[in-house]
Amino acid sequence: MITITDSEFIELVTFMKKNYGINLEKKRQLIEGRMCNLLEKKGMKSFGEYITVIKRNNVEEITTLINKLTTNHTFFYREDNHYKFLKEIVLPEQEKNNRTKILNIWSAGCSSGEEPFTTAMALDDYFGIKKAQWNTKILATDISQNVLNKAKKAIYQEDSIKGLPPTWKTKYLNKTEDGKYQIAVNIKKQVQFGVFNLMNPMPSIYKNKYHVIFCRNVMIYFDQKTKNDLINRFYEAIQPGGYLFIGHSETVQREKSKFKYICPAIYQKV
Ligand SMILES: C[S@@+](CC[C@H](N)C(=O)[O-])C[C@H]1O[C@@H](n2cnc3c(N)ncnc32)[C@H](O)[C@@H]1O
Repeated sequence: MITITDSEFIELVTFMKKNYGINLEKKRQLIEGRMCNLLEKKGMKSFGEYITVIKRNNVEEITTLINKLTTNHTFFYREDNHYKFLKEIVLPEQEKNNRTKILNIWSAGCSSGEEPFTTAMALDDYFGIKKAQWNTKILATDISQNVLNKAKKAIYQEDSIKGLPPTWKTKYLNKTEDGKYQIAVNIKKQVQFGVFNLMNPMPSIYKNKYHVIFCRNVMIYFDQKTKNDLINRFYEAIQPGGYLFIGHSETVQREKSKFKYICPAIYQKV
């Protein structure tokens, strides 16, 4: 087994933190465990050799590295109080105030699609037949191409869907011949997937665009400054009155951000 030296470890950790915000300082074993086979397959003798390739900005290698070192665990209807808040507060507010009937939602760090597809189901369930009057767009982004490929297939194992309300399972999933679950076409077409590194500046078209941003269980890997900067960029991307949903184990430092705290894991741009 190829082991990583102290200096190689520092170099790789610094690279991931600087470019992707991901802090792997305490993940030495994870790095060795997930990368070792890959290095051996490539006939490399050390992590140093691999780092040299990465530092040449080899896009394909960097994609593989990100796929290996990100943690993508997710499931449908995760942290369900966000969906309850959507139904009881956000969508009634939109019905009352949003004359354009255009609703923009961003799932930032969407992993394999369970989060944006649950959101699309929640919108469909809330609006019912009135949904046809609305132009709802869900942008779903991640840095890992692997998870996005899975999301675009929109086929899931039973384990991942078990938290969904039974009526949603019936309405929005079709069972495949091999016992998996395929997302219904009307839900799938509401979600647009794309690669986006949250460390990059937001494109100017994002300004004041989103009614809701989900960024849940992504910032846990970021250091405090990286989190604060990202939250400020989200503030610019959200419409006045719009909401930011974060993971329940995450926080927004109130003195460093203009967001108003609403309740655990929910903030509003006022
Ligand atoms: C644990 S998953 C969370 C998925 C979903 N939001 C949820 O709560 O179930 C975290 C995701 O964040 C993505 N991620 C990590 N750093 C990122 C970055 N700098 N830009 C975009 N996505 C990132 C990872 O690739 C991973 O898919």
